[in-house]
Amino acid sequence: MKFFIDTANLDQIREAQDLGILDGVTTNPSLMAKEGIKGDENVKNHYKAICDIVDGDVSAEVIATDYEGMIKEGEILAALHPQIVVKVPATRNGIKSIKYLSTKGIRTNCTLVFSVGQALLAAKAGATYVSPFIGRLDDTATDGIDLIYKIADMFSSYNFDTQLLAASVRHTMHIIQCVEAGADVATCPLDAILGLLNHPLTDIGLEKFLSDHKKLNS
Ligand code: E4P
Repeated sequence: MKFFIDTANLDQIREAQDLGILDGVTTNPSLMAKEGIKGDENVKNHYKAICDIVDGDVSAEVIATDYEGMIKEGEILAALHPQIVVKVPATRNGIKSIKYLSTKGIRTNCTLVFSVGQALLAAKAGATYVSPFIGRLDDTATDGIDLIYKIADMFSSYNFDTQLLAASVRHTMHIIQCVEAGADVATCPLDAILGLLNHPLTDIGLEKFLSDHKKLNS
C-alpha cells in the first residue's frame, strides 16, 4: 500500500519524505488555507515547492465548479509539474471533467467520494485515483471502512485501473483497516503514520538489549 501525506505543510512533508516511506501528497483548499497560502501565484508556487520535496504524485484541487472552469484549471495545474494530479470533486461536472482530462492524458483524483456509485462513475470516466473520505463518513455514524471494502471489491470485479485512495484518514487504526480492506493508497496525517511505530514491546526490548550490551561493554 502506498502512503501519501495529507497536508500542505512543507515541514511535515519534508519530515515524511525524510522517513523514506512517502509515495505522494494530497492537499485540498482547506489545507492550503490552513498554511495561509492565498492568491493564484502563491498557490501555484506552493504546489511546485511540494513537488520539489517529494518524488511521487501531488494532488492539487480545482476550485471551479463549472465544467469549462474545471478543465481550464485542471490543465493549468497539470502544466505546473509532471507530478501534479488534478483533484476534482465527485459532481456531475467533475465526472465530465475527469473524462476530458483523462482523455488528454492528465491524471486525476476524484475527491469527496462518499458512495460506491460515485466511485464507479469516476473510474468509468478514467480517474487515476478515487478518494473515499472515511473519517467524514465515521463522523456521521456511517462505517467509512466498509466503503473501502465495497469499492475495492467493485474495482477488482470489473478490473478497473483506478487506484483506491483512502482519504480523511484520522488515526493509525484507520491505516491498518485500510490495509485489510485492500486500499491501494492511504493519505494520512503525519501523526497517524508515525503511530504505526508505537509498540511497548519494541521499547521494552530495545531497553533490555541496550542494557545487556552496556553491562559487558562498560
Ligand atoms: C483528501 O484528499 C482530503 O484532503 C482529506 O483526506 C480530508 O480529510 P478530513 O476529512 O480530515 O478533512
